[in-house]
Formats: sequence, structure tokens, C-alpha cells
Amino acid sequence: MASVSLRNIKKIYPPVAGEKKKHLSPSDEPGANLEKTDRGIVAVQNFNIEIKDKEFVVLVGPSGCGKSTTLRMIAGLEEITEGELYIDGKLVNELDPKDRDIAMVFQNYALYPHMTVYDNMAFALRKRTSSKEEIDRKVREAADILGITEYLDRKPKSLSGGQRQRVAIGRAIVRNPKSMLMDEPLSNLDAKLRNQMRAELIRLRKKINTTFIYVTHDQTEAMTLGDRIVVMKDGFIQQIGTPQEVFDKPSNQFVAGFIGTPQMNFFHAVLIEENGHFCVDFDGFKVPVVDEDNRRMKANGVKSAPIILGLRPDSLSLVESDQYPIAHVGVVEMMGTNVHLHLEFKGKDIILVTQAKDENQHLKLDYESDSMIHFSFLPQSMYLFDIETGKNLAI
Ligand SMILES: Nc1ncnc2c1ncn2[C@@H]1O[C@H](COP(=O)(O)OP(=O)(O)O)[C@@H](O)[C@H]1O
Ligand SMILES: [Mg+2]
Repeated sequence: MASVSLRNIKKIYPPVAGEKKKHLSPSDEPGANLEKTDRGIVAVQNFNIEIKDKEFVVLVGPSGCGKSTTLRMIAGLEEITEGELYIDGKLVNELDPKDRDIAMVFQNYALYPHMTVYDNMAFALRKRTSSKEEIDRKVREAADILGITEYLDRKPKSLSGGQRQRVAIGRAIVRNPKSMLMDEPLSNLDAKLRNQMRAELIRLRKKINTTFIYVTHDQTEAMTLGDRIVVMKDGFIQQIGTPQEVFDKPSNQFVAGFIGTPQMNFFHAVLIEENGHFCVDFDGFKVPVVDEDNRRMKANGVKSAPIILGLRPDSLSLVESDQYPIAHVGVVEMMGTNVHLHLEFKGKDIILVTQAKDENQHLKLDYESDSMIHFSFLPQSMYLFDIETGKNLAI
């Protein structure tokens, strides 16, 4: 059990001596948009969070945004360039990793191949001079929690990926650490096993009294595991909130596009204020902004201007009337319960998610590849973003 506070944390990786200056990397390469200074590349900056005792916090963001760096600074595996790290109120910037009472689980398991599962788990305890009986009790208790008792005598190579990852987690929990750090622990597993292990982590979390800080690039993992999610990009925190908060009220266009699947659709539109009320001109269709957003936008000093309109795929619906925007149906993906329609609208690819069956359980057949459809959306489903900064105008 531990609270963990990061205050103004910054990490600069100094340039490596003798390393050739890289030519400008394309902007989609991981880390390409990180700030570069004389002192080196700024992997993390302005990182502030107060993590409560026993909270489960997930750091999520695309590859190269600084997640692992942040986690490694908390673990003490990476020096903190600036800022303060507190564990249980104590400044620990200079504290040795082994004295931080933290356990870490990595993507690649990092098990000792020549040791049995039992010994892999007992290893860390033996170094801490626990008695043989106590070690045995702790190893068996952890094995029981994770359902790996029957493999205790096996070597890692005879185990599946999922079983190995359980052993790696087992090795972390035997020590009963105050905080548990996990860096993409499920990324090496196939989709089915990943889903299963995700559910197991939720159960595990209920059984052990530990603060979790969990890193992933997968927004589904972040949404399902986190009490709170920290969305990161280019070394900066974009938003901290509960899964529902970041989904319902994304702070900016990046968060809106990153959280939620399929991804939110974005359109160019124009915000117009008429008689004290905002409406959105979407390709000639005027849609009123709901009262609550209208009030917030006024309070934020928002003015009439071109904007980015965000609409989630499941908030678009098919309509019969030709009074609504028209789009060309490209690929039709049957997903079982839902159908994903890939549409082309004004030269843009967008996705509409609709139910596959009507209320009588009959397959709806009002769309097919290469046909034209009309779509609409409700005013309350609109997300409005500043065209320059990407900021959500209504929060
Ligand atoms: N040891 C290192 N030396 C120099 N740069 C590094 C080092 N580790 C990571 N970086 C850079 O810092 C940035 C953030 O990396 P990382 O924290 O691993 O991102 P993430 O885990 O979000 O994918 C990347 O651009 C990466 O290239
Ligand atoms: Mg990483």
C-alpha cells in the first residue's frame, strides 16, 4: 500500500556521445515529436499526478510518448532529471530501487530459464532472508491466487505465454510490494489470452492490497483496468480522468481520437453564434449545440469560427430521408451484433456503427457495398474542437 506523487517530473535523455545525428524522422515515427533541447531529448515533462493508496492508474498513449520512461523513473531504474517523486509522502528521487518497495512486471516476463517456477518466485524472497517456511507459504499463496500451483516444478520453457506471464506476476506479488508497476504485461499474448488475463488482473487487484501503475498502448486495457487513466502524447499528459470522464469529456481532439473504438470521426465544420445560441454548420446542415455545451462555450469565451466536429461511429445513424447528408458505402464489416459501415463522405473515410438486426431479430438490409445512404446524428452526440489547438471547446 502506497501513495505515489509525481510533481513536475521531467526526463531528458542526453545525446549519446558518438551517435550520428539522425536525419529528420517522419512525424509518424515514435518519439519524432518530442521536444529536443541542448541537453537532449525530452521524453517526459510537466508530469504531475497524485496516485492514491491502492489506486489502479493506467498510463496510456502511442509508442514513444514516454510511458515506460515514467514507470522506470518511479521504479528507480531511470534517473529523474527534474521534479520530485514521493512514495508515501517521502521524497525518493535518490532512493535505491530495492528500497522503494516496488515490484515490476515487464512485457517479456524476464524469468530465469534454468530455474523452476517455484524457484523463480522464491528467488526474490531468498535474497531477503525470509525463513524457508515463510518463503514456501508465500510462494504457494501467490501460486494459488494466480492458478499456477500445478506448474511449480516446471521450467518456464515448458509453459505457454499466458502461464509465463502469470509466473512473472507471481514473482512480483510474493514480495507483497507496496506498489506494483506493470509495463505492457499483456502485449506478447494473443488476443484471446489477453482478454482472459485482463479479467484475471481485475480479480487479482481485488485480492492484493497494492497500488497499481500500469502502462499500455491499448486503450481497451486502459478503459477496463484503470480507476483513472493518464493519456499521454509526445512526453506530455493530455488528460487524467476516470475511463468514463476521458470518454465522455475528452480534453482535446487527440484524446477523443485515442479513446474509443472504432475511432471517433472528425469533420471540418463551422461554429455559428445566432441570437446568443451556438449551432454547427455541418456541410450546410445546421445543428443546434445543446444548452449545457452552449453555456460552457460562452463561459470559455468561444466565438463563431471554423472548428473540428467529432462524432463517434455509433452516434451516426442511417436514415431514409434525403434531407440528410449522403455518403457512399465502401466496405461493410459484419461484426455479429453490429455492422461497421466504412463510408466515404466528401472525400473522407468515416465509420458508422449500426445494429445488425432490427427489433424482430431480422437482419437489416438497408445498406450494401457501393450503395448510397443518408446519415444523421443527434445534437448531444457532437464533440467540438478548436481547429488550431484541438482543445475541446465545451469543457
Ligand atoms: N535510454 C534511452 N536513451 C535515449 N532515449 C530514450 C531512451 N529510452 C527511451 N528513449 C526515448 O524516449 C522516448 C520515450 O520512450 P518510452 O518511454 O520508452 O516510450 P513508450 O514507453 O511510451 O513507448 C522515445 O522517443 C525513446 O526513443
Ligand atoms: Mg514502453
